[in-house]
Parts: sequence; structure tokens; C-alpha cells
Amino acid sequence: MPSAYPKNPARFMTRRLLIWYRAFGRDLPWRQTHDPYQIWVSEVMLQQTQVKTVLPFYHKFLLAFPTLHDLAEAPIGSVLKLWEGLGYYARARNLHQAAKEVAARFCGTFPSKMDDVLSLPGIGRSTAGAILTIAFGQRHPILDGNVRRVLCRYFCIQEDPRKATDELWHCSASLLPERNAGDFLQAIMDFGATVCTQTDPQCLLCPVRKGCKGYQNGLQEALPLKGIRNRIPHRDYVAGIIFKGERVLIRRRPMKGLLGGLWEFPGGEARSDPPDAFKKVLSVLFCEKNSDPLQPISCMTIRHAFTHFRMTLHVFLCRVRTPVKNGSGEMRWVLPEELEEYPFPSAYQKIVCAVTEKGNSIEFLNRFLKRSEYVGRRIGL
Ligand code: ADE
Repeated sequence: MPSAYPKNPARFMTRRLLIWYRAFGRDLPWRQTHDPYQIWVSEVMLQQTQVKTVLPFYHKFLLAFPTLHDLAEAPIGSVLKLWEGLGYYARARNLHQAAKEVAARFCGTFPSKMDDVLSLPGIGRSTAGAILTIAFGQRHPILDGNVRRVLCRYFCIQEDPRKATDELWHCSASLLPERNAGDFLQAIMDFGATVCTQTDPQCLLCPVRKGCKGYQNGLQEALPLKGIRNRIPHRDYVAGIIFKGERVLIRRRPMKGLLGGLWEFPGGEARSDPPDAFKKVLSVLFCEKNSDPLQPISCMTIRHAFTHFRMTLHVFLCRVRTPVKNGSGEMRWVLPEELEEYPFPSAYQKIVCAVTEKGNSIEFLNRFLKRSEYVGRRIGL
């Protein structure tokens, strides 16, 4: 170990990162406030999401819901609409539900006790620690993805981080300064996001290199150890742009589960050949009597990756004449220009764009529509 290795590496890191933060920390909107509501919104948006992605959503969200009371009173549809494109929609549903709970259980004032904060939906130990430390000046450790990586490298933890959780929390707590713990948390998060990054630990620029055991051992690139990742499964889905006259059919997903509360074009997982699977979806929804009036036309293929699986969405276009027979969830026939009022998951945005004439996709949609009208005439729709 070189002689310059600090006597107390934890204290060395804390001091150095605080100095570094004063010079290089990012000027971010949630750092201009001590309002627990605004800090809470920022911390929830920043879960699994980068700062540059969050910024425009954060501004729009606070403009629409400037106070916790505004959020608690809002319909969930308008909350999801503002979250559209940010992903992980359970965060929006939990945030909304938690705002209602704060209004009901804590008279609208965000709680300042750890147990109370942890009792709110969507707030785990790290998010609670960040809110209480940053907004209320308390002293709690955090352990998000960036911090975990920095700690694994700095303390040279050569274990799958998922198996070293207790040790990592202990390391994180050991770094907290007596004063300015909030600044320190911001510092270590910025340091992880901009210097000690996942793919490129920039050790030559690093203010804490002298105390970093990972660097001393040449392991900065290898740490944190990657657990054995299972291959992400792939699934095929179908969805339909189903026109009746001028209107297109959309359906709301159930509140619980993946993308809960968002709207979609009717469809589902394709357990058979996609055209067959889509015909099955149609036969559940409609009972058209003519011989084969529901000849769907394949018009788009969309690929999308979720955390746990990858999806190929096969999109079909068709016209129907009869009303919806039945179906799960809330259904609406809407004009294409009304689609933008509804929150759709990212994968379905391309369909919305195509149907609402945005970009060039309408040309191709028209082409298909003409064909579908032809099919309609041919079969007597
Ligand atoms: N990630 C999570 N919380 C953050 C914060 N307050 N600043 C920057 N990145 C973060």
C-alpha cells in the first residue's frame, strides 16, 4: 500500500467529496429548495433514472402539481399523463397514493420520522434516507445504484453487491459527516454519476483516488462484481389500431400490474402466430357477422425492452362496424386527435404518432388504411 494512503479512508473520502462537490457539483433544481415535497418528487423520479432524463419531467410535474395538496387532489389519469415516457409507472401511482395518505394521515405535512416516511408507498430505505437528510437536515445513509458502485470500488468489496447489502449500508453510514450530510449525499451521487461511472471510472480525475482500495488493487473496472444475469426473456405481443368510422378503440390497463392505469391499443400476449393471436383478440371483442370482415393488416412492428423482458409488439390495423361485445377494462372510442390526452406507455407512443399524423408515419398508415378500405369494400363492410 503506498505511504500516502490515508489513515482514515472514510473520513478522507467524506472531506474530499464535500470539497469536490462545492467546485463541481451539478446545479440541479431540487438543490435550490428544502421543500420535502419537491425533494420527494425528485428522489422518486431519480430512482433508476438519470438526471438529464428527469429534468423536463420534474419541471412539468411541479408546474402541474406545485404542492402536495395539488397532487393528492389530482385524478390519477393526469398524474400518469405527466409521467408518460419516464417509465416505471408504479412510481407515479405510489407517489399519488402516498400524497393522499400524507394528506389524510399527516394533515398534509410530509412526515419527518423515518418510520412514518417508510410507511408510505414507493419509499424504501434509501429514498427515505435521502429525503430526510436533504430536506430535514437529518443524517441517514443512502444506497442507490451509483452509491453502491462507488462504495464497492472505494472499499474494494469483491462480492456480488446483492449479497453484501449489510456491509454496503454500513460503509455508506460510515461516510456521513456530522454536519452537511445532505450535501455529502448529493456529492456522492454526483460523483458516481459523473466521475466514477459504470463504464468509465475516470481515476485520473478522481479526488479520492488516494484512498480507493479498488484503484490501489487495479480493480476499478472489475468492481462491482456482476452477478450471474439470467438471459432476459423475449415475448411477442399483438395490438390493434381498430377503427370504427372515424374513431379508434383504446383500452385502459388495470391499475395493478405492469403499466397499470395507462392506456393501450387492445391486444395481448401472442401465444400463437401473431395474426392468429390478433384475430383471437378481435373475436373476443366483436361479433362481426359477415364472412370475414375483420381482415387485419399487419402495419408495424415495435421492439421494446422492459427491465425483466423484451417485447416485440406486432401491430395490426382494421375496421369494424359492430360495437365492442365485451372486454376487460375500460374501453373508449376516441378521435385520433384525442389520443394525446391519454397516457400511453412508451412502446405504444409510436402507434399514437402514426395515428395522429405526427412525423412521416401517417403516410405509411394511409397506405395501409387504403388497403384496409379496399378489404372492407371487397368483403362488404
Ligand atoms: N439520484 C438520486 N437522487 C439524486 C439527487 N438528489 N441528485 C442527483 N442524483 C440523484
